[in-house]
Amino acid sequence: VTLKDTSKKHYRTLNTNIVKRKQMDQMEPLFSTEEIAAKNTVMEDKSPEELLEWAMDKMHPRLALSSSFGAEDVVLIDMMWRINRSVRVFTLDTLRLPTETYTVMDQIRARYGIDLETYYPDMDQVAGMVREHGFNLFYKSEEFRNLCCGIRKMEPLDRALGGLDGWVSGLRRDQAVTRVDIAKIELDVAHGNRIKVNPLATWTSDMVWDYIKKNNVPYNELHDNNYPSIGCDPCTRAVSPEEDPRAGRWWWELDPNAKECGLHEIESLDSIIAAAESGNR
Ligand code: ADX
Ligand code: SF4
Repeated sequence: VTLKDTSKKHYRTLNTNIVKRKQMDQMEPLFSTEEIAAKNTVMEDKSPEELLEWAMDKMHPRLALSSSFGAEDVVLIDMMWRINRSVRVFTLDTLRLPTETYTVMDQIRARYGIDLETYYPDMDQVAGMVREHGFNLFYKSEEFRNLCCGIRKMEPLDRALGGLDGWVSGLRRDQAVTRVDIAKIELDVAHGNRIKVNPLATWTSDMVWDYIKKNNVPYNELHDNNYPSIGCDPCTRAVSPEEDPRAGRWWWELDPNAKECGLHEIESLDSIIAAAESGNR
């Protein structure tokens, strides 16, 4: 797998960009693309714990889990904590999260004694965006939604990743059409060549829930109320059993290929604001 193939295959390109998102410092990749490809071959049939042991051995403490405290992320916290009690976990608090998400964050802190590293949006950017486009601008267009996600999640993610060699995410292949071919280990070119590890890539939702029940892991109670996928409060709704699990995310946008917020993009982003301002005033 060459670098070019990886970026083309695993990530869709956003045609929008964001101002005030500083270019992340580019680091020398910890592993070459050849090494990553070889490791992926070895790890494809291995358990999430085996992959995490390898990643933590190579990168801790310059490795952290990026957690939204969804079902996948609480499983990963439990697994990583069992491997190393000083596991690092960061979260991007958009300031628009459901109350239930803050509840599980407190439960996780109490249960595992983890110091959650919380990143908040730049308040000047939030204030400017809201003043100009309104509090609930995301309902107006995909560009405005990308602008909000850019300011509330992507810029803080850049800061979170700044001091790391690698990050762990809870992505699974069967979650969405945009995720079907994620690799277990990726070179995250959009984030300065950090290593990105997706230990649950091959897991199903049932496997995630079996682990949660078996290990009595605290989870977001919204999952019991037909919220399989949870993001910000205004952008998440419950789904009915016959609906796609991600149908409740940005539910007013109908294109399944567009249902990503940019956290998992590999291309750099340069014009979210320009797009928002040119097309949607
Ligand atoms: S999203 O991109 O649509 O929001 P999703 O909710 O499926 O993503 O979560 C996928 C992974 O993205 C999570 O397992 C987690 O690693 C990361 N993630 C999503 N939202 C956040 C957040 N607010 N803070 C930290 N990590 C997050
Ligand atoms: Fe803004 Fe909605 Fe994105 Fe949250 S999910 S950052 S509220 S657009």
